[in-house]
Order: sequence, then structure tokens, then C-alpha cells
Amino acid sequence: MKSTEEVHTQVKDAYGRAISKSTGCCCGDTPDSANARAIGYSPEETAAAGEGVAGTTMGCGNPLAFSGVQAGETVLDLGSGAGLDLLIAAEKVGPTGRVIGVDMTTEMIARARANIAASPHRNIEIRQGIIEDLPVEDGSVDWVISNCVINLSPEKGKVFAEIYRVLKPEGRFSISDIVVSELPDTLRENPILYNSCVAGAISEEDYLAGLQAAGLADLGVNERFAFSTQLLDSADVQTILGSTGSECCASASPTEGMDLQQLARELDGKVQSLNFVGRKPGRSQ
Ligand SMILES: C[S@@+](CC[C@H](N)C(=O)[O-])C[C@H]1O[C@@H](n2cnc3c(N)ncnc32)[C@H](O)[C@@H]1O
Repeated sequence: MKSTEEVHTQVKDAYGRAISKSTGCCCGDTPDSANARAIGYSPEETAAAGEGVAGTTMGCGNPLAFSGVQAGETVLDLGSGAGLDLLIAAEKVGPTGRVIGVDMTTEMIARARANIAASPHRNIEIRQGIIEDLPVEDGSVDWVISNCVINLSPEKGKVFAEIYRVLKPEGRFSISDIVVSELPDTLRENPILYNSCVAGAISEEDYLAGLQAAGLADLGVNERFAFSTQLLDSADVQTILGSTGSECCASASPTEGMDLQQLARELDGKVQSLNFVGRKPGRSQ
């Protein structure tokens, strides 16, 4: 089993390459805004962010669609990538609010900063760091959002505890992420499937149990995309896993010798994108 540092290095390498080259072996890595609309962004949102920005999403949902973020609030995005959700959040909080993104990949942060510089928003800050140990003050944010990131963490319990720590009492979260059911153990260590947001994902039940164990309350699931029938059908799986020669995946182990047809069959119907919501209880609870 890989250490946390080894997993972080593998994921950083894959996403650094993906944002630089837009090659296809990372979560939601499709270089046009059609992907953004397929995962729930409205034409107004993609247009406001700019087509070039919408096309850089590697998310699996639209966490802000379910958030009810208000003007003047502070929003923290875990694994903010190239910044689409940061820009949408900035529209919602307005000039009196604040938006903070945390990401560990230098190339992603550079792209996000360029996207922000080209926007009218001056209240977005990006901090380089890991979501298992957030560079954010205790009890300082009204909202935590995240889009297709926590599945990539080898220490999800720490991430859930960090969400609790940084939220203000009564602060809320909206997380879009991948869940899987019954993924065969043989697939768990596959680095390409891991970088593609599948092999590191846990079940819906474990996700909810982890959020609850961290002290978060009023947990719910707002949305479900079944990837088997929409974005990740058997052919997509083969495309992803067959792309080992691409620059994005060059550092990952090859799928040589794997039966891709069988793999696609094994994954079929087991991968979903969900939107989890909840809140940190207030002081008296
Ligand atoms: C699938 S992409 C999603 C990016 C963005 N949320 C979006 O919707 O386009 C995953 C992002 O999470 C970041 N990431 C993955 N694991 C992380 C960790 N443990 N700490 C900080 N960032 C992480 C990666 O660098 C990458 O930018």
C-alpha cells in the first residue's frame, strides 16, 4: 500500500500534466464546456466564468447549485483546480464576501490564478496546501464546497475532520464527489483508476458515516449521476485505461496485461457522482 505522500505525488503529477496538456486520464478531464454542462452547470454559469474556464473543469457535479450561498459569506473550495467553482462562488458572495481555494498542484494553482486575473473578481485567494491539513483558521468559513476531490485523498477521515474544524458553527457544506460500490480489491491500487477518481472512492454509506463521525449533522444527498449510463460507460473506461501512452499518464503503471473489457464490465453500474450536504451544529447543540 502506498503512503499518503506517495499518493499525493502521484495525484499531483497526474493533475499537473492534465491541466498542462488536457489529456484524458483524470477525473472529468474533457477539454470543452460540454462536460461542464453535462455535470450540472447552467449555460449562464459557464458563460459568466468564460468558455475557456468552464472547459477546464475536472469536477463531477456542481456543488454550488445546491448551496444557497449568500452575499457577504466566506466560501472555501477544497481542491479548487483551475477555479471554475471559485469564480461561480465569487459571483454569489459578491464584493463583500470572500472565496478561498486550496489545492496542492502548482500547475492547477497557476491556471486558476490566471483565470481569476482575467475575471472581474478581486476577492478570491488561492492557498497551496493539502485538504488533510488545511491552511485555514478554525471556525472561519460559512461554506465548504468541493468538487471531485475527496475521493483522491488517502486520508478521508482527516479531510472530514478538517471540514468540521474550519466551518463556523452552523456553517454548511456542499460536496460533489464520486462514490463506488463493491470495487474489486484488485482495482484499488491501479494508479490510473485512482487518478481517474474511481479507485480511491468509498461507498455512499462510508462517506456519510465519515462525515457523521467528524461531527457534521443534517447530512443528505441531493443529486446522483450514475456514471455507468452517462459519463463513464464501458467504452469510456476502456478509453481512460487505454490512454497509458499519453503524457498525462506516463508516470502511472501501464495497463498491459489487463483485460479492459472485463474491467469495464466490473466497473459498470458501480460508479456514481453524488452531492452531499450538511452543516456543523451550532454552539448549543
Ligand atoms: C478532479 S480535480 C477537481 C478540480 C476542481 N475541483 C474541479 O472541479 O475542476 C482534483 C483536484 O484536487 C486536487 N487535489 C487532489 N488531492 C488533493 C489533496 N489531498 N490536497 C489538495 N489538493 C488535492 C488536485 O490537485 C486537483 O486540482
